[in-house]
Amino acid sequence: MSKARHVAIIMDGNGRWAKKRHLPRVVGHERGVEAVRKLVRAAREMGLEALTLYAFSTENWRRPEDEVSALMGLLKRYILADLEEFVANNVRLRIIGDYSILASDIVALLDDALARTAGNNGTTLVVALNYGSQDEIARAATRAAAKGPITPETIEAELDTAGLPALDLLIRTSGEVRLSNFLLWQAAYTEMVFTDVLWPDFTPAHLEAALAEFAQRERRYGGR
Ligand code: IPE
Ligand code: IPE
Ligand code: MG
Repeated sequence: MSKARHVAIIMDGNGRWAKKRHLPRVVGHERGVEAVRKLVRAAREMGLEALTLYAFSTENWRRPEDEVSALMGLLKRYILADLEEFVANNVRLRIIGDYSILASDIVALLDDALARTAGNNGTTLVVALNYGSQDEIARAATRAAAKGPITPETIEAELDTAGLPALDLLIRTSGEVRLSNFLLWQAAYTEMVFTDVLWPDFTPAHLEAALAEFAQRERRYGGR
């Protein structure tokens, strides 16, 4: 029985959740934020070291402009609303992905949130924004090459996730069974749980269930 230190989630199914209810997709995203809020609180209460959430991929720019701006608006509102709670509850924020290309008000908000939580040492909330694993690895390899020989270790040290605990468990909601360019490097020996639950319906109880399943898995890392 082992306890997961670092869990990542591909939060998928907001659109289908809304469609089932004949609601606009943005309502699904709004309910998705509520699910995030509850889950982050639960992760902190259960003492998880790191929770990484896939919020916006390098490919999500292909979506219609109104959906992209709705997602950015929701991100902004979530950070604005919950930052004080992170500060008060020892939650440290981290961003993976190149967020520097987001709108300047969002970049400023994120930089402030990062600075204000930098001294916290409770749960690390890692938000993947404009994140794509291939982009991350290319950026990391470029930096590693500038410093010396490229090895798995020198690349790993330059990944956006450098310093976080190894990724123990990856969860994807909504029934899709693919990684969609998420944490490809980090998931080399990660345990995975795929669930049909649509993201807005995902609760802390679902996280507990996935952690219980993780605890039953035998990890071998190629050995025997
Ligand atoms: C996940 O829900 C949210 C993001 C990708 C930002 P989707 O919007 O992908 O929902 P589906 O997959 O269309 O149901
Ligand atoms: C992955 O979901 C990205 C996020 C959850 C942010 P998508 O809905 O974008 O993935 P695909 O297109 O179904 O692979
Ligand atoms: Mg989707």
